Amino acid sequence: MTAARPLVLVVVGARPNFMKAAPVLGQLRARGAADTLLLHTGQHYDEQMSALFFRDLGLPQPDVNLGAGSGSHARQTAEVMVRFESWLEGAVRRPACAVVVGDVNSTLACALVAAKAEIPLAHVEAGLRSFDRSMPEELNRMCTDQLAAACYVTEQAGLDNLRREGLAAERLLLAGNTMIDTLLQHRAAAARHGAARRRELGLGAGPYAVCTLHRPSNVDAPATLAGVLGALSRVSERLPVLLPLHPRTRARLESFGLAARLAAASGLRITPPLGYLDFLGLLSGAALVLTDSGGIQEEATVLKVPCVTLRENTERPVTLEMGGNVLAGADPERIVAAAERMLALERDGIGTPPLWDGKAGERIAADLERRVAARVPAGGGGGS
Ligand code: UD1
Repeated sequence: MTAARPLVLVVVGARPNFMKAAPVLGQLRARGAADTLLLHTGQHYDEQMSALFFRDLGLPQPDVNLGAGSGSHARQTAEVMVRFESWLEGAVRRPACAVVVGDVNSTLACALVAAKAEIPLAHVEAGLRSFDRSMPEELNRMCTDQLAAACYVTEQAGLDNLRREGLAAERLLLAGNTMIDTLLQHRAAAARHGAARRRELGLGAGPYAVCTLHRPSNVDAPATLAGVLGALSRVSERLPVLLPLHPRTRARLESFGLAARLAAASGLRITPPLGYLDFLGLLSGAALVLTDSGGIQEEATVLKVPCVTLRENTERPVTLEMGGNVLAGADPERIVAAAERMLALERDGIGTPPLWDGKAGERIAADLERRVAARVPAGGGGGS
């Protein structure tokens, strides 16, 4: 039997995907012109890295979980590809479109499989470029964008990059930032979570900083990681620094014998990875954030929390242009100096990028509907 409506497949895999996909899925479901199916590759699988986010974001349970798990880049990417292809081959309905988000290994793996299966691909958060090919995410982004029929871009630089790479105008839409949709939607609940967490963590009423650290370039070499920790320890002499530890970072600290050094810095407060609402609440209340994450640079910009990025580059240059973010690399002296400078920043001067207004999911869902409607004959669906 032919289905009445086209099927849009939304793919997620790792922690930073969930908050970016939620508004697209929510808007597609609310508008009702297409059926949706949520597929989780299982790249992230721990309670703290995945299930907690689904609850915090009010995301429905995935319709499909491929359970791909961790591994080297090749193994993880290949595992997702094999499982996704096999699922697609057995699927009752053929998707009219597959939506992938962000730049993790699952993004590229599913993009490649969908494109080879001739399922039109949409990429949310397309076009970002750090111009640093040593970052696995940069390779994932570049390849995914080339495969995508629709590229939904968060900032002007992304659009410029894609045009320079030769993508035709009809593939591109400056749609805004779905992660910011999610932030704005959950801001009040996050403030309540943050206040409760702040009490539990004994952060007191004074200023504090938040730090996140997980990039291989910062945590995989003992000397670099020790240097960054030394800088954090110095910053923590001025104000407490909360450090929720990513599993990769925790594993490296233990294997490099650095865990004791961390415990000795009394101003550093170490926690397991935090859920979305707890983290967003604590970030909103912070005087400063130090991070090597991509998305946190964007969240900090909208929250007007001064941000020191522990990298030499950013694929999100608008956060620098808005005045709330600086690059400090992994050099301890630069990190400490940047933290001092950003703590003195006039926060109200931090700008908000165009279209980061809470409506990106709506724009994307409308555009997706238009695209799938154009491909699906009236009354026809994607029955396989
Ligand atoms: C991945 C993304 C990165 C993103 C980050 C957010 C890629 C190439 N990288 O990096 O862009 O910023 O997610 O967290 O896709 N682990 C657990 N539990 C989990 C998941 C992972 O313990 O639920 C551990 C495993 O030991 C694993 C390691 O973390 O080997 C790394 O996980 P992986 O998904 O390979 O990469 P991330 O470092 O999380």
